[in-house]
Amino acid sequence: MQYEAEPYKIKMVETIKKITKKERIERIKEAGYNPFSLRSDDVYIDLLTDSGTGAMSDRQWAGLMLGDESYAGSRNYYHLKEVVNDLIGYEFVIPTHQGRGAEQVLFPILIERQNQYVLGNMHFDTTKAHIELAKGRALNFVIDEAYNTELEHPFKGNFDLDKLEEFIKEHGSEEVAFILITITCNSAGGQPVSMENIKGVSEIGDKYGISIFFDAARFAENAYFIQQREKGYEHKSIKDIVKEMFSYGMGLTMSAKKDGLVNIGGLLAFKEDEELYNQARSLVVPMEGFPTYGGLAGRDMEALAIGLKEVVSVDYLTHRIGQVAYLGKLLDEGGVPIQKPVGGHAVFVDAIKFLPHIPQAQFPAHALAVELYIEAGVRGVEIGSLLLGRDPETGEELISPVEFLRLTIPRRVYTDNHMKVIAKALINLYNRKDEIKGLRFTYEPKILRHFTARLEPIE
Ligand code: F0G
Repeated sequence: MQYEAEPYKIKMVETIKKITKKERIERIKEAGYNPFSLRSDDVYIDLLTDSGTGAMSDRQWAGLMLGDESYAGSRNYYHLKEVVNDLIGYEFVIPTHQGRGAEQVLFPILIERQNQYVLGNMHFDTTKAHIELAKGRALNFVIDEAYNTELEHPFKGNFDLDKLEEFIKEHGSEEVAFILITITCNSAGGQPVSMENIKGVSEIGDKYGISIFFDAARFAENAYFIQQREKGYEHKSIKDIVKEMFSYGMGLTMSAKKDGLVNIGGLLAFKEDEELYNQARSLVVPMEGFPTYGGLAGRDMEALAIGLKEVVSVDYLTHRIGQVAYLGKLLDEGGVPIQKPVGGHAVFVDAIKFLPHIPQAQFPAHALAVELYIEAGVRGVEIGSLLLGRDPETGEELISPVEFLRLTIPRRVYTDNHMKVIAKALINLYNRKDEIKGLRFTYEPKILRHFTARLEPIE
């Protein structure tokens, strides 16, 4: 289209502050060279995550005033259920406080025996943690192309269907608890999964009697990529594509903090299996709350119901995905190595290519995150060996197949001018990349170490 800008105007603003470079050097040192330990007041542009960081619309804010805070049977629950029934086509709906709340309830039901496998394209870290807490084993089957950042492939979140089927044949379907399709595939760079691939996974599921579930945090972004890139879908509406995607599964967990366009919330939903729904409904009570609020206030459920309707707008999605692509284009033109094509919610900078002189054991993507903060007050996050951690059995340092600096773009929050500042800062860093040093631990927690570790530069 010829005249294209943000499909919204700004009604309320939040001031952000810029501290000096000298101050940033002090703050990051105090934070043990770990951006997770910074105060957000010391951050200029915050790209740590797109989770719960988006801006709600005027209609969502108005919805907050319609909160029915009844313990049981809240009106807002029925509104939310109606929206999910209509949009996703699943009958049974349980709200949860966020995505991991839904995982915590569902996984122990589905993982019936110790060491059963949960097969995914690429599991998110809390998802993997909840699989393991439920005594299961999480395995990834994303296509090899996902690991080659320079290779343009329209659906880098796809499953390798041959490998998936081989594995099931070799181990037996009774060893597999379920298959989880993450849309979009966050850890590979917000990369979409094609409808053909979803269908292929579902056929394998049918053939071997294995249930298919979705990790649906960024479902609308995935549907948009299908509309833009997959033959036969270019004239279908986002809503139709969303319905078809979910028709291939029997249930979902969703972190609504992404495509739900809310600051807090999650969902657990089942297409038609009432027995499973009843099991989950019993478990959700001690874990999250009564099944018609599941850890959310009535007003939160109202905002979520409205957000789910807004997120499938093609104008919204065109701008959203377009803004992330714009940042990717600026970086690419400046020579910065990134995962291509750019995904839905973030630009993933390839730190192995950016900082070839820093060994993976010295966390190049994390070093880049630290330098980007010092350079311009921009906070990104490492997705690499620091996040991956050690082998829980041997204690050996694991080397991640990727070292990414994720620049995650919150929804409806920053303008294209912010994108320009981020790109300029990273390009400046790229031009003096040889000065950047690796890091080592001064304090290393045993589990989920990346959140609270303290490090120092290796001089
Ligand atoms: N699944 C995926 C694909 C996610 O990206 C996340 C969260 C979750 C599940 C868990 O949901 O946070 O609501 O409990 N991702 C955030 C991120 C935290 O920064 O990528 P949650």
